[in-house]
Amino acid sequence: MKTRNNLTYRIQQFKLAIDPHIQPVQIKELSPYLNGSQITFFKKMQPSEQRHAYEVLEKLKAEGCDHPDLLRAALLHDVGKILYPLKPWERAMVVITVQIAPSLARQLGQRKPIGFFKAFVVAANHAEWGADLISKTGATELLVDLIRNHEDSSAPVHDHLLSCLQKADDAS
Ligand SMILES: [Fe+2]
Ligand SMILES: [Fe+2]
Repeated sequence: MKTRNNLTYRIQQFKLAIDPHIQPVQIKELSPYLNGSQITFFKKMQPSEQRHAYEVLEKLKAEGCDHPDLLRAALLHDVGKILYPLKPWERAMVVITVQIAPSLARQLGQRKPIGFFKAFVVAANHAEWGADLISKTGATELLVDLIRNHEDSSAPVHDHLLSCLQKADDAS
């Protein structure tokens, strides 16, 4: 798999992560899209991650993308990060390493998710973890696939919904 590497996206996420005023997304904003267990997973994300996911949803809607599974994937694509919550400095470390030494970042992502390595392992595996979590919530195969492949830049270009998700993710 070829991991996406978009600096704008990473900087945006980092800015969100260090903003102390960020508020979690309200349940009433989620209930039109997610079922109860999906909302439970969503609420376990950090406020900055919730806000990022909601911005991806808004971006897709503004562009007229209204496929229900695409909108669900917008909200849930990064949910695998709940397994190992990261601190802002850990995210920054990954952003910098991915930019200056992408193959090193990939190698570090193959280690066990402890200590210094944790952030790299989360970056490398959160898509897979999120897909596994959401597959147990009554999700369609399409939703699970969108989550599983959202970081994969080598995913088939004809997959229109996936490329919509990746573009909105990069811009949020
Ligand atoms: Fe992601
Ligand atoms: Fe994302």
